[in-house]
Amino acid sequence: MSLKDCKLIELPIIHDCRGNLTIIESARHIPFEIKRVYYLYDVPGGSIRGGHAHKKLHQFIVSMSGSFDIILNDGLEETSFHLNRSYLGLYISPMIWRDLNNFSTGSVCMILASDFYDESDYIRSLDDFNKMALIRHE
Ligand code: TYD
Repeated sequence: MSLKDCKLIELPIIHDCRGNLTIIESARHIPFEIKRVYYLYDVPGGSIRGGHAHKKLHQFIVSMSGSFDIILNDGLEETSFHLNRSYLGLYISPMIWRDLNNFSTGSVCMILASDFYDESDYIRSLDDFNKMALIRHE
């Protein structure tokens, strides 16, 4: 898995003068079945979230309100995304280190995940992640 697998996905919008509606159907609009949804909110200014990679988990991140940045790293290269639209999400494949920062006041970050919470799926040491990435990219 590399950064090339990670991409912004534009979700369908039903435009309506009463307000817009956006849809996310499991494995249809995003490349995995959704087993878990969680969200970050009331994030104090200057906070950094993430700071880990996942061994097997696929994730899709949407800014439901406000904006924030996501910095991805596959052990070889780094790229960043600014999320600020509710119809645009970032797909993150397994084995990608992510940091989230620059949260605007009142922002809400929704994460769809391919599996239930499992701490053993996390790689929380950047050192370990870089070592694993080196082996994978050899
Ligand atoms: P973590 O995934 O590190 O947060 P983030 O990447 O958004 O900064 O999770 C923070 C804490 O919450 C950690 O102690 C694990 C716990 N947690 C759960 O218990 N269940 C969950 O589904 C998630 C995502 C986190």
